[in-house]
Amino acid sequence: MQIQNAVSIKDFLDHELLNAIFTSAADLQSLPNDKLPPLLQNKIIACLFYEPSTRTRFSFETAVHRLGGDTISTENASEFSSTTKGESLEDTIRTLNEYVDGIVIRHPQIGAAEIAAGVSRVPIFNAGDGGGEHPTQALLDLYTIVQAKGSVDGLKVGLVGDLLYGRTIHSLIYLLSLYDVEISLIAPAQLRLPESYLSYLREHNIKFHILNNWDKVINNLDVIYMTRVQKERLAKASNYSKLKDVFRLDGSTLPKMKHDAVIMHPLPRVSEIAPEVDDDPRAIYFKQARNGLYVRMALLKMACSKK
Ligand code: NCD
Repeated sequence: MQIQNAVSIKDFLDHELLNAIFTSAADLQSLPNDKLPPLLQNKIIACLFYEPSTRTRFSFETAVHRLGGDTISTENASEFSSTTKGESLEDTIRTLNEYVDGIVIRHPQIGAAEIAAGVSRVPIFNAGDGGGEHPTQALLDLYTIVQAKGSVDGLKVGLVGDLLYGRTIHSLIYLLSLYDVEISLIAPAQLRLPESYLSYLREHNIKFHILNNWDKVINNLDVIYMTRVQKERLAKASNYSKLKDVFRLDGSTLPKMKHDAVIMHPLPRVSEIAPEVDDDPRAIYFKQARNGLYVRMALLKMACSKK
């Protein structure tokens, strides 16, 4: 199966497509590095990052290299590209189209990846557009849930933290709505999920609860998905210190949780998960980060390798 781009999670709301991505990711994951197929030989992928990144950029780059391709990269595109000279995003993308076979872009503006895709002949991978979406993260999140829990139907999922600006949450909401799940939206009042996502959940008959603490649900959740307060997107910096520690999962939370629950986080974490939680078998956030490598390999394969 082929894909054109990975711009919005809305293009992935199809069980057959998800199955193809996850099967491919699992196949690639089962191979030792020296047995991975050179699917991207002679391909060059540009990583154009206008915002900081650790996992997304390194896992995309590693995925390309492991599949025999090459990357060219700028991790501070707003400073080190011709953007400083006033070049438009469209022209940057048009120019890169003359050199490369695919573009991974992270940008602070909602809709930037869509704008890029509008002028690009080569596949565009949205690595996060401001407080908008993060589709490849949501795909790896769902892959991790399926891997850990076997299936998604019937799960009680808690999404915790910054649901207003958390783009990983926004994309994941769409994916979860494909299944029979019950979602607890656990956030301070100032960081609630935007109305458009709530209406999407209603339209898809997803049972959800809006909560400002997890006391009544923590013992019943199968998946606890923690997020960081998006300091860089808050209108007032002073709000950050008030909000950053509202939810903190630590050693005292663990005994309250189901023995087979999983704790996820797109990372980076700040203080919302205490380091003492890392050794608990339910903490799977580093496994989740690793899974990003294989899901991104699968996406690169489906978009950029020979038909
Ligand atoms: C997330 C992002 O950039 O949106 N990180 C990631 O890609 N794994 C989450 C975050 O920055 O909080």
